[in-house]
Amino acid sequence: MKNIFQNKNIVIGITGGIACYKVLDLIKKLRKLKANVQVIMTKHATKFVDVKVFEKASNNPVQTDLFDPNINYKDYIKKNKPIKHISLADIADLFLICPATANIIGKVANGIADDLLSTSIMATNASVLICPAMNVKMWKNPITQQNIKKLRNLKYEFIDPEYGELACGYKGVGRLANLNKIIDRIKIIIERRNNLEGKKILVTAGATSEEIDPVRIITNKSSGKMGVYIAEQAFLRGADVTLIRGINAVEPQYHFKDIKIHSVRDLFDAIKKNIKNKDVMIHAAAVSDFTINNKSNNKIKSNETLYLELTPTTKIFERIKKIKKNILLIGFKAEYNVSKKILVDRAYELLKDANADFVVANDVGKEGRGFDTETNEVFVVDKNKKVKHLKLADKRIIGNKILDEIKQTKN
Ligand SMILES: Cc1cc2nc3c(=O)[nH]c(=O)nc-3n(C[C@H](O)[C@H](O)[C@H](O)COP(=O)(O)O)c2cc1C
Repeated sequence: MKNIFQNKNIVIGITGGIACYKVLDLIKKLRKLKANVQVIMTKHATKFVDVKVFEKASNNPVQTDLFDPNINYKDYIKKNKPIKHISLADIADLFLICPATANIIGKVANGIADDLLSTSIMATNASVLICPAMNVKMWKNPITQQNIKKLRNLKYEFIDPEYGELACGYKGVGRLANLNKIIDRIKIIIERRNNLEGKKILVTAGATSEEIDPVRIITNKSSGKMGVYIAEQAFLRGADVTLIRGINAVEPQYHFKDIKIHSVRDLFDAIKKNIKNKDVMIHAAAVSDFTINNKSNNKIKSNETLYLELTPTTKIFERIKKIKKNILLIGFKAEYNVSKKILVDRAYELLKDANADFVVANDVGKEGRGFDTETNEVFVVDKNKKVKHLKLADKRIIGNKILDEIKQTKN
């Protein structure tokens, strides 16, 4: 199998936090995967770890200074020689800031380029992945959070710090994320190609809910992660994304059109309103199969047996192509503890009923698949009943592979 890390240039910016030490292991892991690692350290980072330690680990010179004291820049520029911050920015397949201090986050968010690291980040076209690590109060500080929000909206990616004992003696959120999690995310970013520019994609996610009375609902266990992660990855790949999601769904981390709905009817109304100019629809929402006929307008008293009359809801997925014939339509089919054959057969039936282009089938009865997990294993079934197996992986990876199928299909 192709090693996607091979010969990839990963530029790592190391800033002045205690978690500096942990980056040594990260560099070793990346080199073992055959990536080429270039390190930039801030002045404050060098107070924690000697430059030579990272030179040895990365097998490359570590850069710390924007200006080289031995260069006469007046003559140098005339000769069109490489300038460090531009060269580093240009060679990066991925720019990682790890650990990222509150300070570097603030600088990047506010356009400050006053040292080699911040200037290189400003000059790069590569994806920038930021791994913050800091004291819990620095993390929770609204300025830090506002800076992060601003950067996320500009497509900078983050791996949030974790909860635990902090080196400063506090307990809380602030520990650098697990290194394997960082490697997994690097893999997702390297694999992803920004090739969905110009595509208008409508994604639905999460569970719908039907009211029993003004305070009670029936719903399902969908967390909306699959749909929300697909929407995020499509956005990061340059698509124009509209997300329609049930209120239970996880919060998207990036800024795109985000519509919240409750009932099946709300969902269908929102789809009809937003589908007109779309090229692709990915229907990952877990839509309630029933609505309540005898819904009460007042809170129902709890001292009597209650009978609910359930009637089937609109099969939204089957209506989409009737509303917009030329949309590329992808749906999901969740089954519980069935054989692969039954799973694929049912997905294909759904595909035919809806005249869809793909149906992604998964068995939510198996561990690590389906509802409220970070991972999934799916079978992508196409119009010719050809099946592509996407083995158990982070839902973002699965999402990207589904987006790859979309990219390869003409519509
Ligand atoms: C012992 C010590 C530990 C520190 N640890 C962190 C940290 O984990 N995260 C952080 O954001 N800042 C930390 N700081 C503060 C930063 O070093 C400081 O904000 C500095 O200006 C960061 O500069 P830089 O972002 O250019 O590396 C620490 C400071 C000291 C003295």
